[in-house]
Amino acid sequence: MDITAAKAAGARISTRHDDVIDRLPSSFRWGTATSAYQIEGAVDEDGRTPSIWDTFCRVPGAIANGDTGDLACDHYHRMPEDVALIRELGIDTYRYSVSWPRVQPGGSGPANAAGLAFYDRLTDELLSQDIEPWVTLYHWDLPQELEDAGGWPNRDTAYRFADYAELVYARLGDRVQHWTTLNEPWCTAMLGYVQGVQAPGRRDFEAGIHAVHHLLLGHGLAVERLRAAATRPVDLAITLNLSTAKPATDSEADREAARRADGLGTRIYLDPLRRASYPQDVVADLAARGIEIPVHDGDLATISAPIDTLGVNYYFSMRQSGVDEHGRTADSDGLPVDRAVLYGLPLTAIGWEIMPDDFADMLTRIGRDYPGVPIVVTENGAAFADKPDETGFVRDDDRVEYLASHIAAIVAAREAGTDVRGYFVWSLLDNFEWAYGYDKRFGIVRVDYPTQQRTPKQSAYWYRDTIQRVRGQ
Ligand code: FCB
Repeated sequence: MDITAAKAAGARISTRHDDVIDRLPSSFRWGTATSAYQIEGAVDEDGRTPSIWDTFCRVPGAIANGDTGDLACDHYHRMPEDVALIRELGIDTYRYSVSWPRVQPGGSGPANAAGLAFYDRLTDELLSQDIEPWVTLYHWDLPQELEDAGGWPNRDTAYRFADYAELVYARLGDRVQHWTTLNEPWCTAMLGYVQGVQAPGRRDFEAGIHAVHHLLLGHGLAVERLRAAATRPVDLAITLNLSTAKPATDSEADREAARRADGLGTRIYLDPLRRASYPQDVVADLAARGIEIPVHDGDLATISAPIDTLGVNYYFSMRQSGVDEHGRTADSDGLPVDRAVLYGLPLTAIGWEIMPDDFADMLTRIGRDYPGVPIVVTENGAAFADKPDETGFVRDDDRVEYLASHIAAIVAAREAGTDVRGYFVWSLLDNFEWAYGYDKRFGIVRVDYPTQQRTPKQSAYWYRDTIQRVRGQ
């Protein structure tokens, strides 16, 4: 990477939105995020065993272009170069995830020293560059053996997760203060076990609801274990992907659909985490479908163990309708036909609507309804159809605009009373975007996959300048 050369190639640093960024404190945390399977590659090196994503990538038609994470950004072998990039961009926090099957092959039993050594080196490299490590323990790569034993719908997986969390903490806890248990349990449960569009690709609503509870239980057990093991200050968090759920119209059917979407999207996570109970209306809706959340005595006390930070990821929002294209409100089984509908706003390359106002609304609502825990936005960003010039430089004004408008939304939410303390761009690098494969590029740094060359995009320089400006440098 050569920042000077790229700038000479014509990058113009946007200084728009100065008025907005001037309203953020110099202590605001600026980060960037990645996840293990999306960047590391090296899937069968140093004792790593397959995760559900290695398996899912082999299912014909599951991933665009038949892509896999086998090589990804080859970060496992290029880690120091990638840390140097973070440093050069002046980013103060790096959120990375640990690959469970790399550090505990098969998902149970002793640690794999060679696998843990990678995260040991990464952590030391970050600290030596003055970058704060922010570890996510679970970013979707469940060891395949645990899926074979029932996966997240199986209660035992929660206990396996707590053991794994403790094992990673034992190795990195002397240097890492910030720990996120789970990334986006909604995606694991709903996309992985209900819709089947992510690993492990199951389509079973009841299994998805059981997964929700066991993910939350695993989080709570891990928090208890890490809190007990900590001998220095520790910041324990969970990251949820949250959005708004506004009715498409004021009709009763649409308002009910919005209530249900909010129930299964937000309250089924935040109520047990922060209020030690599942929402009554969600429980009733599930009961009407013959489904019970598999709560054992003591689970809700475990799940609601205090956290220090709430991680929130936001990308887009849609409105909710309880009426289908044929005007029906229920299907032939009598189940609601709820669907999400577009606002009609511009879309990113992945088809997600650009809706920063709803980001502000969501953060404001979370601050109001679930007060008392500071929020860090642990992911936000956008895929666009980047067009590199002959030097590989991408002038991504669209991404700059997206990031700027979403940072402005954070400022609005802060001024409305929500305690948001940091913002992490998704993502440092273009990477393996799950079922979308490598086609959808979210990086502020371009990756040319054939050569693995990294080239910061204009958005990377804009981000660097934004951070410097807020810090008053
Ligand atoms: C989030 C995931 C992250 C990335 C972004 C685009 O849901 O946490 O890994 O894929 O979406």
